[in-house]
Amino acid sequence: MRVSSGVPGFDDLVEGGLLKNRLYVVSGPPGSGKTTFCSQFITQGAKEGENCVYLTMHETKEELMQDMSGFDFGFDRAIKSDKIQFLNLVTESGKRAITQFGTEGGLTNRLVAFLESNEVDRAVIDSTMLLQHFFKQDVSDEITGFLSALKQTDATILLISEMTDPTSYSDEHYLAHGVIFFHNFLDSSGMTRGVQVIKMRGTAIDSDIRELSFSDQGLRVHTKKKVQA
Ligand SMILES: Nc1ncnc2c1ncn2[C@@H]1O[C@H](COP(=O)(O)OP(=O)(O)O)[C@@H](O)[C@H]1O
Ligand SMILES: [Mg+2]
Repeated sequence: MRVSSGVPGFDDLVEGGLLKNRLYVVSGPPGSGKTTFCSQFITQGAKEGENCVYLTMHETKEELMQDMSGFDFGFDRAIKSDKIQFLNLVTESGKRAITQFGTEGGLTNRLVAFLESNEVDRAVIDSTMLLQHFFKQDVSDEITGFLSALKQTDATILLISEMTDPTSYSDEHYLAHGVIFFHNFLDSSGMTRGVQVIKMRGTAIDSDIRELSFSDQGLRVHTKKKVQA
């Protein structure tokens, strides 16, 4: 079963939507649109009555609301509804929401328990930098365990991975069911933006870089416009 990304045009690149209950890595350089894409994804879930969670440690709910306030895709209404839980894991309330699921086994077990007991359908984790903060020893092993556990939950998850070097893949790219890459480059006409589905298990994908643009409705994919990297 497939779920709509909430980003106009994107679903056409992946046979109509994202396969449900899978783990996707959303990668790209700063400013390439990752947070906006994920905010549209979570808003779409809320509109469909799904239980959603946005997990971060970079920013407050107010900052995210501010960042999305220039768009009209319904984020404000969705985030204020009971369909989206916003958790910042460096704040006391965010920590409490997660630690009530015990302190055994660290972040991985607690997050999985949280997703299960809240019957979460869609989750965004912004970003993998959060993991480096929580996993102090054997970071690579712990991240592998974390990703494997998330892959088995009944939630469709977008994990944001900041990436400045598009050739340096890391564990999460190999382990995820799918990888979505955002590009931005300056050329003579200004900033060109693109999105590229690198892999998606179980799906015949359009893996070309397709043009991406911002409008007052948020991001939109121009499925017929190929972009040269
Ligand atoms: N309407 C718009 N037109 C052009 N650029 C925009 C518009 N709205 C936001 N941006 C820019 O696009 C970027 C969006 O970034 P964001 O989704 O937060 O990306 P990331 O999470 O990858 O850093 C920001 O740098 C922002 O300034
Ligand atoms: Mg971001």
